[in-house]
Amino acid sequence: MSTPRTLEWHGETDGYLRLIDQTLLPNQLEYRDCRTVEEVWEAIRSLRVRGAPAIGIAAAFGVVIGLQRLPERGRGAFQQRLREVSGYLRTSRPTAVNLFWALDRMESCVTGRTETQSPEQLHRRLLQEARAIHDEDLAMCRRIGEIGAALIGPGQGVLTHCNAGALATSDYGTALAVMFVAREQGREFSVFADETRPLLQGARLTAWELQQRGIPCTLICDNMAAQVMKEGKVQLVVVGADRIAANGDTANKIGTYGVALLAQAHGIPFYVAAPSSTFDLSLANGDGIPIEQRDPREVTHGFGRQTAPEGIAVYNPAFDVTPARLIAGIITEKGLIRPVEEAAIRALLG
Ligand code: MRU
Repeated sequence: MSTPRTLEWHGETDGYLRLIDQTLLPNQLEYRDCRTVEEVWEAIRSLRVRGAPAIGIAAAFGVVIGLQRLPERGRGAFQQRLREVSGYLRTSRPTAVNLFWALDRMESCVTGRTETQSPEQLHRRLLQEARAIHDEDLAMCRRIGEIGAALIGPGQGVLTHCNAGALATSDYGTALAVMFVAREQGREFSVFADETRPLLQGARLTAWELQQRGIPCTLICDNMAAQVMKEGKVQLVVVGADRIAANGDTANKIGTYGVALLAQAHGIPFYVAAPSSTFDLSLANGDGIPIEQRDPREVTHGFGRQTAPEGIAVYNPAFDVTPARLIAGIITEKGLIRPVEEAAIRALLG
């Protein structure tokens, strides 16, 4: 059984982007139609669409939407508007490199054509590229699942953090794709899903997805992971990634670094699953990865109820960086990088 499509483009160049509003899950499965670039920006910023690959896909279609009504005609207007729209979408969230990767692709697919082709031709080319980004992500996720599935042994307990599933991508996901394919291959295992404070992507999204696909899942609060590991219930950790530096240092949802340290302390292999679009080889290591800081109210007023005193100081980084030395391997659509070393990463990604 599969979950509904995270994102869907409806129509041709004058179409719109339909996405699952993930802020409403698991209580309501509702779709939101984005018909302006501002709506796409807002959907990314407010996590209606989230997860590194899904953010990149949404932004690519956002470019198509942003070019629908050119404010002025004439030579150069298309290119100028493209730069504006892309620049605007780049400000939606800073950490997932897939956003910038997708926007770079959108800009460069029309580079060198703006003088010779009509705005209509260029617009069609942009839609073609956005669709390619979407379709390629589907194939990459499936391949990650096929490559990583062998890591899950029969009867094992697998722990994951945040949501790196179908909802975070075009379909299948990355970390969850590994589980979905292992299940398709007939292996029985169970998953521990960290609830993932403060926005509960693990509880709201991962638990929902695994339940939909019939994979046994036990939800735990983030601070229970050490105890669950100590009790011998976890044999493998697989998480997703938002940006991976050239040396393998990996940014992912806040709390991932702590899980990696716990896994090391208990001798449990810790794997990252991510497509090649999540690597940022321009960064030597994780120190240069921009970490998104989010609204303090996500911590003090989670889901509408105040749970901390008025005026309390809050620190709310949305991501942390797990050093490569804690990562047993990185599962990509091109193969498994193990051990995690810069030379191996560069050799595989080219
Ligand atoms: O803030 P979010 O929900 O966008 O964070 C998502 C994650 O950290 C995921 O683990 C990551 O993007 C990988 S998704 C395949």
